[in-house]
Amino acid sequence: MSVMSFNGAGENSSDRPSRAKVTTTTIQEKKRAGERITCLTAYDYATARLVDQAGIDMILVGDSLGMVVLGYENTMSITVDEMLHHTRAVRRAVKSALVIADMPYGSYHQDENQALQNAIRFVKEAGAEAVKLEGGENRANLVRRMLDAEIPVMGHIGLTPQSLHKMGGFKVQGKTLPAVEQLMRDAVALDRAGVFSLVLEGIPREVAAMITAEVSTPTIGIGAGSDCDGQVLVLHDILNLSFAPPAKFVRQYADAAKLISNAVTAFKDDVESGAYPAEAESYHLPKDMQAALETIADRKQRMRR
Ligand code: KIV
Repeated sequence: MSVMSFNGAGENSSDRPSRAKVTTTTIQEKKRAGERITCLTAYDYATARLVDQAGIDMILVGDSLGMVVLGYENTMSITVDEMLHHTRAVRRAVKSALVIADMPYGSYHQDENQALQNAIRFVKEAGAEAVKLEGGENRANLVRRMLDAEIPVMGHIGLTPQSLHKMGGFKVQGKTLPAVEQLMRDAVALDRAGVFSLVLEGIPREVAAMITAEVSTPTIGIGAGSDCDGQVLVLHDILNLSFAPPAKFVRQYADAAKLISNAVTAFKDDVESGAYPAEAESYHLPKDMQAALETIADRKQRMRR
């Protein structure tokens, strides 16, 4: 706990300047107005707060958190409870961005009632304003059921990490004519079902451009080129905190790994050399108390002699 919060002098959250609340309607209006949409992942209070303050439109509590925060090998293992825990932290931090919770593998794959129950948990227990599901035509009915339950849905097609085993690895999708036709059918089916936006991951730029022109819902690209209506990236990737070689489409905007390592090493050195804490970083007794303590110490010393 920092001295600031220790003294009860922590920042009042109403002091934070805010922008207008982003809703699913805002996102759809942006496509109609030809304005690009921004989305980043965040998984905890501190980073979600920074992402929100920077003016990003949508914050996705992606199941990528299983890998970049929890250290799982892929996104298959993360549970609904783990996702809820992080979504709650993000929700507490965010004032304006639209908060979307990613439904993890297994949470919507058995039957639609189970899927609906889990989606409702994200809204009720964690304050998510929308959920994201991977899959195409096969999810259209589920999307309609979610909308009937008042839950906005973000679709996700192309390289869908939860299909890792079926795809035989993380491979760019939509590279053959039948595959492109299937992607187009998937996009149209989800658009008609009413997704408020659609993530296009790991597909050729040309295919993403065709889909973007065809559907009315905003497309949000990740490794899908610049013709999408918006872009999403994993926060830890752009900060060099993923501990994996970056994919071709990742642009690293900062080297947080280096920054954190340097800070931690400097702290270690300062503690070991005695340079930390300095006088100004220590609490002191009032002068009269100091004098009283010195008198007691003197008396003890005299008695020992
Ligand atoms: O889990 C995730 O982070 C994602 C995206 C980056 C789209 O699904």
